[in-house]
Amino acid sequence: MKAWFCAAYGPPEVLALREVEKPVPKAGEILVRVLATTVNSGDVRVRAARVPKGMRLAVRLALGWSRPRQPILGTELAGIVEAVGEPVTEFRPGDEVFAFPGVKMGCHAEYRIVKEDERIFLKPAALSFAQAASISFGGCTALHFIRKANLAGGEKILVIGASGAVGSAIVQIARHVGAEVTGVTSGPNADLVRSLGASRVIDYRNEDFKAERESYHVIAECTGEHTFSDCRHVLKPGGRFLGIAAGLPDMVAMLWSKALYGKRIIAGPAEESAELVQQIATWAETGIFKPVIDRSFPFQAMREAHDYVDRGRKRGSVVVEVASLP
Ligand SMILES: NC(=O)c1ccc[n+]([C@@H]2O[C@H](COP(=O)([O-])OP(=O)(O)OC[C@H]3O[C@@H](n4cnc5c(N)ncnc54)[C@H](OP(=O)(O)O)[C@@H]3O)[C@@H](O)[C@H]2O)c1
Repeated sequence: MKAWFCAAYGPPEVLALREVEKPVPKAGEILVRVLATTVNSGDVRVRAARVPKGMRLAVRLALGWSRPRQPILGTELAGIVEAVGEPVTEFRPGDEVFAFPGVKMGCHAEYRIVKEDERIFLKPAALSFAQAASISFGGCTALHFIRKANLAGGEKILVIGASGAVGSAIVQIARHVGAEVTGVTSGPNADLVRSLGASRVIDYRNEDFKAERESYHVIAECTGEHTFSDCRHVLKPGGRFLGIAAGLPDMVAMLWSKALYGKRIIAGPAEESAELVQQIATWAETGIFKPVIDRSFPFQAMREAHDYVDRGRKRGSVVVEVASLP
């Protein structure tokens, strides 16, 4: 089978398409023929070893010092079960599935083994393979942080980076829980962000949300460009700052932000649980959560897909079609 390898940290050119042995499922494993995957902000961060401020040492220790320990990137997939290892009973060859291996990655390949107790589910019939492949990374991150913030109906939330994979999911989930959403994005994305549920959009090229005072109960910062101290005056007393792309300074300030300012910082890696994926899939199936797909690339164009995501301008998800989609 073919798989894209990242054998060194660097620009998209470090990626190489290699022929590797097709895996055979062992006990409790499911072999999935991958039809669709995504290239997301996590993939390009790993490939480029581009980490939030102050996190270089910790991230290199976790991911691999001079190159990624897992050379095949890709956090999410959708495809068809090819074979199962005994005693798997939940899935059969031919089943249409999607999975979210998350930080374990390995989805930028024609086949991937998924363990039965990893996050693999039957694909909701209402979703295409491209949609099913694209709901988990942004959706689960968004739901994790919204739950941590205890966002309630009637509260006001500011979503900075509202057109990205995580931001577009936060806008939708926040709206679903009854919050009043303001999205920060550039002008061309304003209609998209409004269509997802924002009642107000701030075009950051013309307007500075930091000119406001005590306006929001929650700020979801999805760009890494603004710290808690940049934004805390914009939060109401008792407000919560979701540092989704936070660096070390905000991680450390989590320890005293509540005692010092009466406002909390919530940061760190999002949980990757089956329950989160299931909730997002249910919402996607019932139309509460709309997968936002910017564009798709063929499998051979993986480097181009990375280059596109590297620019930081994508809207929602970028899909890679590993095989021709039905
Ligand atoms: N904590 C965790 O576990 C976790 C999990 C997932 C992701 N993350 C991090 O969260 C961040 C967002 O991820 P993502 O996947 O949503 O990224 P993404 O999809 O690549 O975000 C791209 C979007 O960001 C917008 N943007 C860029 N600069 C902006 C600015 N100054 N103000 C407002 N919007 C801006 C762009 O809109 P314009 O073109 O309009 O500028 C674009 O639509 C990344 O840093 C990622 O590493 C963290």
